[in-house]
Amino acid sequence: MSKVLYPGSFDPVHNGHIEIISTASRLFDDVIVAAMLNPGKANPLFTDDERSEMIKEGTSHLGNVSVVMFGGLVIDIAAELEIDLIVKGLRGVADFEAELQMAQMNRSMTGIETLFIPSTSEDSYIASKYIREISKFGGNVSHLVPAGVDRRLQERQP
Ligand code: PNS
Repeated sequence: MSKVLYPGSFDPVHNGHIEIISTASRLFDDVIVAAMLNPGKANPLFTDDERSEMIKEGTSHLGNVSVVMFGGLVIDIAAELEIDLIVKGLRGVADFEAELQMAQMNRSMTGIETLFIPSTSEDSYIASKYIREISKFGGNVSHLVPAGVDRRLQERQP
């Protein structure tokens, strides 16, 4: 049995995240997506409940995926849920440096390993911060996010 944790801030979840979750759901028995607080990203656009709901909607076609909200350390939720591995997506070298450091920090504390899943070229440019920015100024991001995310973004447009 392999149970993996996919942590992120998911503000909001986008098609690149869904692709990583889909890949993990093929490779592992159980995938738990943890919508976390990123201490470096204060004031998320969406509330905890909204972020969690949007991930659930976007992954409802995957039978072995569940979603939790967590406000503490990744290693603590990993221990609480008896996770075997952390998985993270890599879009490119820009992600790699920060992700490598987090993986090494997390391993140094509890020994938990992180497995990187490379994104496909089709999804590698998608980033939540640009989804928020484009949508804020009325741009169309419907091809980049699940339908429920697009709907909520449009509700917030001026
Ligand atoms: O989607 P993001 O914002 O790149 O995800 C970053 C996240 C939420 C995974 C990271 O900020 C995180 O792990 N936050 C929880 C706090 C924690 O465990 N910090 C120690 C990291 S070594």
